[in-house]
Amino acid sequence: MCCSFSVSLPLLLLLLTSSLSSLPSVSTKTNEHQNKHQPNNKNLPQPNTTIIHSNPSSELETLFKIMDTMSSDQTWKVSHPNPCNPGQSWPGLECKPGMDNHFHVTRLDFGQPPNPTCKSTATFPSLIFDLPFLESVFFFHCFTHTKTTLSFSQTTSSSLQQLSLRSNPALIGSIPRQISSLKSLQILTLSQNGLAGRFLLRFFSLSSLVHLDLSYNLLTGTIPFQVGNLRNLAGLDLSYNELTGTIPSTIGQLGMLQKLDLSSNSVVGTIPDTIGTLKSLVFMALSNNRLKGKFPKGLAELQSLQYFIMDDNPMFVTLPREFGFLQKLQELRLANSGYSGTIPETFSQLRNLSTLSLQNNRLTGEIPVSFGNLLHIYHLNLSRNLLGGVVPFNSSFLKRLGANLDLSSNPGLCLNPSEAYSVKIGVGVCGKNNTSSSLIHPLKKSEAPCGFGFGFSRSSFLLFGAFAFSLSVMN
Ligand SMILES: *[C@@H]1O[C@H](CO)[C@@H](O)[C@H](O)[C@H]1NC(C)=O
Ligand SMILES: *[C@@H]1O[C@H](CO)[C@@H](O)[C@H](O)[C@H]1NC(C)=O
Ligand SMILES: *[C@@H]1O[C@H](CO)[C@@H](O)[C@H](O)[C@H]1NC(C)=O
Ligand SMILES: *[C@@H]1O[C@H](CO)[C@@H](O)[C@H](O)[C@H]1NC(C)=O
Ligand SMILES: *[C@@H]1O[C@H](CO)[C@@H](O)[C@H](O)[C@H]1NC(C)=O
Ligand SMILES: *[C@@H]1O[C@H](CO)[C@@H](O)[C@H](O)[C@H]1NC(C)=O
Repeated sequence: MCCSFSVSLPLLLLLLTSSLSSLPSVSTKTNEHQNKHQPNNKNLPQPNTTIIHSNPSSELETLFKIMDTMSSDQTWKVSHPNPCNPGQSWPGLECKPGMDNHFHVTRLDFGQPPNPTCKSTATFPSLIFDLPFLESVFFFHCFTHTKTTLSFSQTTSSSLQQLSLRSNPALIGSIPRQISSLKSLQILTLSQNGLAGRFLLRFFSLSSLVHLDLSYNLLTGTIPFQVGNLRNLAGLDLSYNELTGTIPSTIGQLGMLQKLDLSSNSVVGTIPDTIGTLKSLVFMALSNNRLKGKFPKGLAELQSLQYFIMDDNPMFVTLPREFGFLQKLQELRLANSGYSGTIPETFSQLRNLSTLSLQNNRLTGEIPVSFGNLLHIYHLNLSRNLLGGVVPFNSSFLKRLGANLDLSSNPGLCLNPSEAYSVKIGVGVCGKNNTSSSLIHPLKKSEAPCGFGFGFSRSSFLLFGAFAFSLSVMN
């Protein structure tokens, strides 16, 4: 076999896929020099050398060792002696031809059928970083019994673009600083592991990152101001950790950011005013922190925002009318946060609003009459407030929402007698005896259609997985 570097790239690839030998063919000679040339440079003298990877047999050996630490299938080595050969490819493994005419391991995918499952004693194979052509790694639910740590080898591969280690409860310890040497990394998902420690600075030199998901770990410390360095970031998910401190104002430098999730940490202070510069932001979740009012000045500028999820924070302010200017808003969740004052009339301008959760606050006054015009509203919870007056909804609105409308525990609210027969929304009939014995109680939660709680977070999780990236990082 002899191949020149002067052929065009498509032709070269065609040749490679159709006729060239695969990874395990024995190497004869190193040719680093030739590797530096671009294959389609027609001005170069035609080299007359068989280009062979510097050490493919060691790449195969490394792969065999990784398989040994990971896979429950111990016979694969016999059944697939040349796992990169097109005809013999093994699920979970992807190889691509390199510049050197040989196939190289570019992707490892373990844990989800049809990919190989991991054995119960699997530990994290730091050898993956010795595979010089590796681009993507997915280890899902692999490290479940034997405690293991995220460790790096000496020769850390800088070709890695995607590292996804998800749902590995036995993957513990801190995230080592060598992670910052993965300079090509675009997608880093370390969600649902047992990772701990103060960590964050290490990531903020990874300037190629597009998606960073460290959710559901035990990470501590603050979000450093260097987060603003990640100018390409489209998704930042740090939810369900133990982060403290404030949201740095440098977050406003992430002009590409579409998803920001800091839910369920112990973040304090106010939302920085700079958040208004995040023109691409579609999804923002800040629930279950210790954020307090007031809302940032730039709130009304978040014109891409479709989801604003911010339950369970000690805000103790009035609701800003600016929410009503976020035309694309579909979900607005502001429950359990001590809001007082009236519900701004502007909220009824949110034509695409499907979910509004304001329960368990201290809201007073009447429900704006214009709320009856929220044609896409599907879930409305105003329970446990201090609202009063007549419920402004007609019977078709009441029927449409059914059990997804909850107005209970607002002592001053009452329902027009003409509507009262049709629904059970936890409100007494106007003019009648208003004692609790006359109240009609709403359906139990279990009777209500889905869309709440976990059902919600899961669907938005999937939505944004698919939405931000077509890669199977979220699967
Ligand atoms: C290419 O290499 C072969 C074997 O090394 C040699 O016989 C041949 O003359 C070379 N051709 C050119 C054009 O250099
Ligand atoms: C409302 O939703 C519809 C259908 O999804 C969409 O076409 C429209 O652009 C949305 N309107 C706004 C203001 O986002
Ligand atoms: C209920 O109110 C909506 C919005 O104002 C209106 O479009 C609809 O016709 C009303 N339905 C009835 C039965 O009055
Ligand atoms: C409304 O919120 C209350 C308090 O959190 C909750 O108990 C109730 O199930 C909710 N109702 C609906 C219909 O979601
Ligand atoms: C019942 O509550 C409504 C609304 O707050 C009020 O207008 C009405 O007077 C009350 N009726 C009685 C008998 O207390
Ligand atoms: C209100 O209901 C209570 C208990 O059902 C009853 O004792 C009382 O007389 C009623 N008051 C009026 C004004 O109907």
